[in-house]
Amino acid sequence: MRVRELLRRKKDIGRTDLVAIMAFVLATTSERIYMDPGRELAREALERIDQYVAERKKGRPLSYITRTREFFSEEFFVDERVLVPRPETELLVEEALRIMTERLAHKSGDKSEDRGLRILDMGTGSGIIGITLARHGAAAVTCVDISGDALLVARANAARLGVQDRIACVRSDLFAAINASMRFDIIVANLPYVSASEWEELMTDVKFEPKTALLGGTLGTEVYERFVGDLPSRLKEDGFVLCELGGTAQIEAMGDLMKGHGLRVDSKKDLAGRDRILIGSWKNLS
Ligand SMILES: C[S@@+](CC[C@H](N)C(=O)[O-])C[C@H]1O[C@@H](n2cnc3c(N)ncnc32)[C@H](O)[C@@H]1O
Repeated sequence: MRVRELLRRKKDIGRTDLVAIMAFVLATTSERIYMDPGRELAREALERIDQYVAERKKGRPLSYITRTREFFSEEFFVDERVLVPRPETELLVEEALRIMTERLAHKSGDKSEDRGLRILDMGTGSGIIGITLARHGAAAVTCVDISGDALLVARANAARLGVQDRIACVRSDLFAAINASMRFDIIVANLPYVSASEWEELMTDVKFEPKTALLGGTLGTEVYERFVGDLPSRLKEDGFVLCELGGTAQIEAMGDLMKGHGLRVDSKKDLAGRDRILIGSWKNLS
């Protein structure tokens, strides 16, 4: 069977997903699949395509099938050990890069200080946030996760993208295993924030992804509450914290908690207009 025939026949799966699966099986790109519709497909390839199409139809994320996910224009390795990176997390990275650039410019005038910023990525998963910051100039990023399996993926991505010498992976329940004397210039966090009721609704969509990556207790903010409680002893005097959260109620609740510790807060909406990023600093943010 040829590529064009398979594309014509398989109507029970989205065209983009089908082409991505074909490209994965044939070790080529989606563009090349479209460019070569006359390509003959061997029986083995057809069998694998059928198997992956069946898995996709059962809801297995495409990224787990193709083992890749694009994030901030880079290709990351992903599998069932980590959350599939979401596009909204790019907003967290954009804000962190903005702050990082400002802080580096500020530090360049201060000859007495080490110009490298100390950055921590809490709940690193596949490492997308910390690794992207390292790819954009961060000299040293500590990537933390409670899951040792996730850290194996983060390490593999750091090596794949050539920043392994800038990334330190630490297995820890929040800051528990981080040296108590270490304070950070920028802390980014995408910790679990799905509430128990949302989890019930989402179950069919996210059942392939690690529960520890998504479920944040009854209200969704249990892990974040503990995290915010640790910030006063972990954030430098001129430091910034940036968190991804799931909407206005969570942003307000965690914002109030931060304010209770003396931080000033600001928030950013995602492209869908949903409150998404909470930023905290000891100084005025405007
Ligand atoms: C929503 S996922 C985010 C993964 C990745 N940073 C991203 O943006 O795609 C949350 C991550 O936090 C980790 N995590 C959950 N509880 C944690 C804890 N108490 N301490 C550290 N990491 C935790 C999970 O293992 C998971 O990798």
